[in-house]
Amino acid sequence: MQLIDGKKVATEIRKELKAKIDELKSQGKPVPGLVAILAGENPASQIYVSSKSKACEEIGMKTKVEKFPTTFSEEELINVIKKYNSDKEYHGILVQLPLPKHINENKIIEAISPKKDVDGFHPMSIGNLVIGKETFVSCTPAGIQELLKRYYINTNGKHVVVVGRSNIVGKPIANLMLQKKYYANSIVTVCHSAAEDLSYFTKQADILIAAIGQPEMIKRNMVKEGVVVIDVGINRIEDKNSSKGYRIVGDVAFNEVAAKASYITPVPGGVGPMTIAMLLSNTFKAYKLYGDTNE
Ligand code: GUN
Repeated sequence: MQLIDGKKVATEIRKELKAKIDELKSQGKPVPGLVAILAGENPASQIYVSSKSKACEEIGMKTKVEKFPTTFSEEELINVIKKYNSDKEYHGILVQLPLPKHINENKIIEAISPKKDVDGFHPMSIGNLVIGKETFVSCTPAGIQELLKRYYINTNGKHVVVVGRSNIVGKPIANLMLQKKYYANSIVTVCHSAAEDLSYFTKQADILIAAIGQPEMIKRNMVKEGVVVIDVGINRIEDKNSSKGYRIVGDVAFNEVAAKASYITPVPGGVGPMTIAMLLSNTFKAYKLYGDTNE
């Protein structure tokens, strides 16, 4: 069994991007910029946004966090997005989800210019992904494919089984692996909570992608020998032996499944760190494709 070290790969990607940004700076060119917009007081979102902004700073990107109260209206938020759509210094716009209940998330996502949609959530980006056009791919699925690439895992004609059908992970990763491209071209099955016998599907997987949000749900008897396991889950479970009183586990029962797997991502340190690395990478791409490079 080989561990897929997402932390290490994410560090490599961040270094690669930093080198490119250093080069831009040395040439006196503008640098890529990301604005992160946060509405409301969700504690997890506050942590995510500050980690994203810190990651930008570390590689020399321009970054700004725009924070608004829970009472901020949908219209006010759309106006903020419009302002950044035409701001040349920010090439990527990220609106942290979930938003306060009174705000329609779809309307907000649609207000972001597809040229700055570094989260890959805009219907235009998703449509382009489905038809195989070059686009911004949402960060977690892009990170999963990047891990497969950097570990030279053959996906061609392999059976990828995705468990979970979210708009952020399940649906986009299924479409990504279906594309007739390198590190894709897979046979894809998507299963979800309505499956009567989930293990009927998961046992067929050459590559299993678990994005269910249920702690340690995928057990040893649900996978075949030699499976490649990508665990997207980040779940808190009570742990009296830990000083925090909890620990983080994935959607896969790691120890027992690792014993049968050829490759497996740990939690933490697998897919998680890749999400931020791909956000930086998408922001750099937005800058390259649409930014003012003074060339
Ligand atoms: N909420 C949970 N994951 C994400 C993400 O990748 N991007 C944004 N914008 N919000 C999220």
